[in-house]
Amino acid sequence: MKRRILVVSMLLLLGFLTWRFIRPMNIFIVEDKIAWPVDTSDAPALFGNLSAKVCGNCHKKIYSEWRTAIHSQAWTDPYFQADMKFDSNQFICRLCHTPLDRQLPSIITGYRDKNKWNPILKPNPGFDAALQHEGITCAVCHLRKGKILGVLGTTNAPHPVKKLDNPNRVCMRCHLVKSESFGVYVRFPPCGTVAEILGPQKGKKTKPGQRGKTGELTVSEIASLRCVNCHMPLVERPLVEGGKVRRVRRHLWRGGHDPEMVRKALTISVVAEKQGQGGYTFTLILVNSGAAHYVPTGTPDRHFTVLFRALGRDGSVLSQRREILRRNFIWRPFIIDIGDTRLRPGIPRMYRFTVPKRKNPAKAVISIRYHLLDEKRRKRIGYKNKEPISYEIYRKEVSL
Ligand code: HEC
Ligand code: HEC
Ligand code: HEC
Ligand code: HEC
Ligand code: HEC
Repeated sequence: MKRRILVVSMLLLLGFLTWRFIRPMNIFIVEDKIAWPVDTSDAPALFGNLSAKVCGNCHKKIYSEWRTAIHSQAWTDPYFQADMKFDSNQFICRLCHTPLDRQLPSIITGYRDKNKWNPILKPNPGFDAALQHEGITCAVCHLRKGKILGVLGTTNAPHPVKKLDNPNRVCMRCHLVKSESFGVYVRFPPCGTVAEILGPQKGKKTKPGQRGKTGELTVSEIASLRCVNCHMPLVERPLVEGGKVRRVRRHLWRGGHDPEMVRKALTISVVAEKQGQGGYTFTLILVNSGAAHYVPTGTPDRHFTVLFRALGRDGSVLSQRREILRRNFIWRPFIIDIGDTRLRPGIPRMYRFTVPKRKNPAKAVISIRYHLLDEKRRKRIGYKNKEPISYEIYRKEVSL
């Protein structure tokens, strides 16, 4: 009898683990806020086909900024395209990268599963392929129920306007996801930017799946995020040619694709000391002084590497050390984050590197690189990059 129970339990456990290893893994759930595309059926005739070019006829400066921003490439981005293909062309990817109803080749009539990764689709006669290529176009953030959302409350616009309580609310649709599902045990959701700013909930017993705060945010929490303060810098200019000069926000949204922006996040210092025994010690101090969230943030592919090297007279490497600043996950049978070496805002990180004199070093080189993704993962998803996937943001050479 006992043996039979043991055999049955073993079989059950084996079955469970097999299921955990072969089922598709989803690190986040598709919440209602993104599950349904943005309805554009009430768009005023003034907006024509809803292209950013139409808005750009009047809002010229903003249009030319948006064209340089990654949001306008959210669909055409070759890294996204490769990743989506690798991920079996999941339809739900489109819900953040091209969320207007007219940008989607299919209409979603419902979902087959609880976490909403499996939509029920039928062809969309209103599909506009050119608009799809505009990715996160103006209407994605601004058009709701036939009105243009804005924070200024202007009465001079030729289109209907609705006042938004806080501009950061706009970012929440896509930069905040929930990971609260069985089998997912992570401190922050995959693109945890918002939770990283607010921090894990204090005082409350938190669910294992979700220690970061990503439930419904209060008005004051949303205001405290300050996303637009750093990612949409202020400028004084009119919204339209000849219009009133106002303090408005540039539509730039720089991040990991922009070395200048990444440098802005960090304060870097190096102290070189000569040791008594005749050697050198280098102390590198990194502070995330420019971002309110962890650095790097966003997709867990992003990481920094720090490389210390001691070089000989002939340029040969005498000794070296490499540090990686990133999030680490176990993906199966459960999704668990097992370490996070990224930089928290305001908290200094120190690395020491010693070069013994007996090796007769000529030079020490300290370099820091930012990586959009790993070379290994680039190969795995078949992304044939034209732009480099990593770049140096800091280098210091000290002659010894
Ligand atoms: C025919 C010209 C024209 C077109 C086309 C146009 N706008 Fe405007 N828009 C204006 C004017 C004029 C204002 C008011 C300027 C002011 O008050 O200084 C305005 C104001 C705005 C505001 C500020 C609202 C607020 O109160 O904060 C937003 C946001 C905006 N437009 C977005 C858009 C978007 C998005 C599109 C395209 C879908 C668009 N506009 C198309 C002329 C235009
Ligand atoms: C409709 C969804 C959506 C909304 C709304 C949205 N974003 Fe994004 N954002 C994205 C996507 C998708 C990308 C990545 C595009 C790509 O590289 O394919 C992105 C990229 C970015 C990046 C740049 C990352 C990089 O790699 O360089 C920044 C910064 C950013 N968003 C900030 C914001 C801010 C601030 C707001 C609010 C004002 C906002 N976003 C609103 C979806 C959105
Ligand atoms: C990712 C979301 C997003 C996209 C895409 C976007 N905007 Fe905005 N836009 C915002 C936010 C947020 C504000 C409010 C900024 C603030 O606090 O004043 C804003 C403000 C504006 C304003 C008023 C100026 C101001 O600073 O308040 C105009 C006009 C405008 N946008 C036009 C456009 C046009 C035209 C496009 C497309 C070329 C566009 N926007 C694309 C998020 C977006
Ligand atoms: C105090 C300034 C500051 C605030 C506030 C801030 N950011 Fe950032 N953010 C930065 C800097 C600097 C970087 C560049 C470093 C990096 O890419 O990791 C950055 C990078 C990013 C990236 C790029 C990640 C990637 O994958 O390339 C995204 C996305 C982003 N921020 C979104 C947001 C959102 C959403 C908010 C609000 C919830 C926000 N940020 C608030 C300064 C800020
Ligand atoms: C909840 C909204 C959302 C969904 C759904 C979503 N993304 Fe994104 N995606 C983002 C945001 C926001 C960013 C940019 C900020 C960051 O790095 O986290 C981004 C960035 C990316 C990037 C990095 C692009 C670059 O150039 O660096 C890739 C690749 C990507 N997404 C692939 C996918 C794939 C594949 C899917 C479907 C399985 C998907 N995304 C679904 C919101 C989303």
